[in-house]
Amino acid sequence: MAQSQYVQQQIQSMVARALKHAEAGTTDSTDEIYRLPVESYSPRSWEEEMDAIFRRLPLMLALSAEVREPGSYKAIKVLDVPVLIVRGEDLRVRAFINACTHRGRAITQTHDEVGHSKGFTCPYHAWRFGTAGQLLTVADPRKFGEIDRSLLGLKELHCEEHVGFIWVCITRGVSVDVKNYLGGMLNELGGLEADKWFVHGRSQLESANWKITHDGYLESYHIPFLHRQTLYEFWKRESATSVSLYDHYGPLPWGPHQRMGGNAWGNDPKLMLKMKDLAPEQWDDKYFHAVRTLFPHISISADRHGGLVSQMIPVAPDRCITNQIHVNPRDPSQDSPEQLQAMQERIALYAKIVRDEDYSTSFSIQEGLRSGANTELLFGRNEGGAQNFHRSVAHYVQEFRACRAGG
Ligand code: FES
Repeated sequence: MAQSQYVQQQIQSMVARALKHAEAGTTDSTDEIYRLPVESYSPRSWEEEMDAIFRRLPLMLALSAEVREPGSYKAIKVLDVPVLIVRGEDLRVRAFINACTHRGRAITQTHDEVGHSKGFTCPYHAWRFGTAGQLLTVADPRKFGEIDRSLLGLKELHCEEHVGFIWVCITRGVSVDVKNYLGGMLNELGGLEADKWFVHGRSQLESANWKITHDGYLESYHIPFLHRQTLYEFWKRESATSVSLYDHYGPLPWGPHQRMGGNAWGNDPKLMLKMKDLAPEQWDDKYFHAVRTLFPHISISADRHGGLVSQMIPVAPDRCITNQIHVNPRDPSQDSPEQLQAMQERIALYAKIVRDEDYSTSFSIQEGLRSGANTELLFGRNEGGAQNFHRSVAHYVQEFRACRAGG
C-alpha cells in the first residue's frame, strides 16, 4: 500500500527536523514559558468555555467507519444535547437532535450507542422516523388527532463528512465551514486514509476537567516519567531525551489544530539517528509517528495502518468522558482468532495505561488546583502543543465575549 506524495513529503521533512534535534540534543521550542492562571479551570470558566467553544465550533463526533452503511447510526450526548448521527439511504450522513418531536424522548434506547436500523421507532409511543429524519408514521393517528407530519421531522444539526471524519455543530442554526476551520489539517487527515478504517473496539474512561485531560495529549515531556513502566518500556527507549515536533493548522496563527511528531511517540533517539543511514525516500511511517489533535477535543494517535482515536467529551467542570476508538484498515470480520485476541489485549492495555497513569494524574491535578497551592500552571518551552491549545481556548473565549458584547 503506497503512501501518498503528501504523506511522503511530510515524513521526510519531519524526519529531517527530528534528526537535527536528535543530534543537537534539542527539541522544538517556544520563545517562553506560558503561564495559565488556575482560575481558568474554575466552574465559571468551564461554563464560558462550553458556550464559546463546544456550542459554537464544529466537533468531530463520529468516524465514517462508525456509520459505514446506509442505516448505520451513532448516538452520543455532548453537554445537554443528545445527538443522533445517521447515514441515510442516499449515503449522506446527517445529524439530528436525538429527541422525538412528540414529547422529546430519545428515539434510540440510550444516548450512547452505535447500531444499524432502517428507521427509528420512539420507545415511548412508537412514532417512527426515517434515516433522513422524516416522521414516517404516528401510532394510532386517528385517535391522536390531526398533525402535519412534514413539520415534525427530527431537528437537524449542521453536519459535514470529510476524509473519514464527521463534524457536527451541536447548536441548532450554527453552521461553520469545516474545511475552512481545518485549513491544512484536512491534508493531514487525508493522509490517514481514515475512510478505509474499521472500528475494532472501544473503551470509555472518566477523567477530571477537559483541559487537564487534553493537556496530557499535547506534550511528550511526561512519557519517560509517568509512563516509565509502560509506554517508555514498550518503545525500548534508551535515553530520556525526547524530540517533539509541533506543527499547527487552521484559521489561527497558532492552530487551533496540531500535529506532534517525534521519537517520543515511539522511536528511540538511537533508532532515529540510524535513519541517517537510509536515503530520505526510505524514511516512511514505520520509523516515525505523529499524533494529530483536532480542536477542541480529539487526539488521533493513528496513521494509515490504524491506531487510536480519543474523543474527549466534557460533562462537568471537574469531569470529562473519553471515548477511545481503536481503528484498523483490516476488516475485523476477516480476522483470525489470534488477531482478534491480540486486538482485545491492545484495547484493554491502552484503557489501563490511560486510566491508571494519565487519568489518575488528571484527578490528582484537579485536587491540586482545589488546594489553592498554585495561582498559575506552567507550560514549558518544550510544551508548545499545550501552549497553543490554551492560546486557542483563550482566543475563542475572547471572541465569544466580543460577540456577546456586540449583541
Ligand atoms: S415521545 Fe416519542 S412517540 Fe411519544
